[in-house]
Amino acid sequence: MNSCSFPLFIFTIVIFLRYLNPTGAATCHPDDEAGLLAFKSAITRDPSGILSSWKKGTPCCSWNGVTCLTSDRVSALSVGGQEDVAGSFLSGTLSPSLAKLQHLDGIYFTNLKNITGSFPQFLFQLPNLKFVYIENNRLSGPLPVNIGLISQIEAFSLEGNRFTGPIPSSISNISRLFQLKLGNNLLTGTIPLGIANLELMSYLHLGGNRLSGTIPDIFKSMPELRSLILSRNGFTGNLPPSIASLAPILRFLELGQNNLAGKIPDYLSRFKALDTLDLSKNRFSGVVPKSFANLTKIFNLDLSHNLLTDPFPTLYVKGIESLDLSYNQFHLKTIPKWVTSSPIIFSLKLAKCGIKMSLDDWKPAQTYYYDYIDLSENEVSGSPAKFLNETEYLVEFKASGNKLRFDLGKLKFAKTLTTLDLSRNLVFGNVPATVAGLKTLNVSQNHLCGKLPVTKFPASAFAGNDCLCGSPLSPCKV
Ligand SMILES: *[C@@H]1O[C@H](CO)[C@@H](O)[C@H](O)[C@H]1NC(C)=O
Ligand SMILES: *[C@@H]1O[C@H](CO)[C@@H](O)[C@H](O)[C@H]1NC(C)=O
Ligand SMILES: *[C@@H]1O[C@H](CO)[C@@H](O)[C@H](O)[C@H]1NC(C)=O
Ligand SMILES: *[C@@H]1O[C@H](CO)[C@@H](O)[C@H](O)[C@H]1NC(C)=O
Ligand SMILES: *[C@@H]1O[C@H](CO)[C@@H](O)[C@H](O)[C@H]1NC(C)=O
Repeated sequence: MNSCSFPLFIFTIVIFLRYLNPTGAATCHPDDEAGLLAFKSAITRDPSGILSSWKKGTPCCSWNGVTCLTSDRVSALSVGGQEDVAGSFLSGTLSPSLAKLQHLDGIYFTNLKNITGSFPQFLFQLPNLKFVYIENNRLSGPLPVNIGLISQIEAFSLEGNRFTGPIPSSISNISRLFQLKLGNNLLTGTIPLGIANLELMSYLHLGGNRLSGTIPDIFKSMPELRSLILSRNGFTGNLPPSIASLAPILRFLELGQNNLAGKIPDYLSRFKALDTLDLSKNRFSGVVPKSFANLTKIFNLDLSHNLLTDPFPTLYVKGIESLDLSYNQFHLKTIPKWVTSSPIIFSLKLAKCGIKMSLDDWKPAQTYYYDYIDLSENEVSGSPAKFLNETEYLVEFKASGNKLRFDLGKLKFAKTLTTLDLSRNLVFGNVPATVAGLKTLNVSQNHLCGKLPVTKFPASAFAGNDCLCGSPLSPCKV
């Protein structure tokens, strides 16, 4: 490059960056400004100042959450509260004047928590709208029967609101839809069969509603489906056979907490990309297919609270992250080797799995990642002390109804522990003062003795021991 063209090159770069930079546009279209100010004026409370930069007469393209791309027109509106931060919310309604923002292609109103009102009708008036995420607010009432008229939408999420009534069948007319998330609302009725027309569907999330009926056999025409979440509804019947056609790319299959029944189908073992399988809290029965050995990449497997029977297959997973087989009719005898050897497991739940081993013989490959352990209602003996003193991030340890025998007074555990349930075991010694920092403790029905440390736990947490005394139990004799 010669010395003459260099300044021109810089100039071009500056122009190019300005063109890319959304805040570069000095002013925005008066319609857009009017629409945004109307939106703001329908907000009655904004304690954390989410909209504090929205001031009349200042360039609206530079307001927080407002994006103008190639012109002075607003193309995306992204107004979000912080999850789990108490003062981070907006109260009020969504102004119909947002219809003035005619160039909008994306609306992201997430975690605003206290926005009320019915389905926003202005969505029908925005011809370029492709992405709608109105999540974790308090919108309510039915979804409009003619929702299919917003036919250009590609991603549509109303997750975490209070919408009621059925999923309108006209939704099958939104043919470019690849993401439909209506989870955690109060929707009723069945899944409309027409959803089978939505051949680009990649994420279908309808969990946490009051949907019912059988899961329709609609999946043959959804070759792109990666994530199917229908948990926490009232679905009945068997898994529809067309789920088998999702084998090449389905990663998340979450159907927990329904009323599904039948055998766990063999074809699931052909799901080479499966990351998470949740069939918990249903009425699945029979054996888990031996072919599950081929699910070498599964990270999260939850089959808890079903009617499944022995034998449980040996899996050849390289590293499972969370496993829950609790409350079936298994008699595993020991914690399976393929679990113990996982280098990354953080959640191990094997309550009432017929385990008869001693924890003294349990040598997990690592203790670093463990967060949750539930071995309740087994015949586990020995001592968890060696394991507990080596965990760093353990949050819960539950082992009620076993034969654990060790000196509680000498127990060391991670600072992160919040729940310790050792009730109905053979634990002896005294109750150490270190338990005071836990959120939940239960050491009832053991062989503990001595004066209790000062804690906030009720008497039932300590009842049924040999000779514990002091508040909340009766005073110690002097
Ligand atoms: C949430 O919104 C409702 C209705 O607008 C209002 O009565 C209530 O005070 C709001 N809650 C908070 C915490 O501001
Ligand atoms: C889908 O759109 C077509 C044409 O606009 C209409 O005739 C049909 O009734 C719509 N389908 C549903 C289920 O609403
Ligand atoms: C695993 O898959 C292979 C090939 O797909 C098959 O031959 C084998 O029988 C399967 N293993 C089990 C335990 O089903
Ligand atoms: C845990 O306890 C075992 C047995 O008492 C002991 O050998 C080990 O050094 C302890 N580990 C830590 C980190 O304190
Ligand atoms: C402790 O466990 C016993 C028996 O398992 C139960 O009856 C009691 O309610 C529990 N107490 C607390 C505080 O969890």
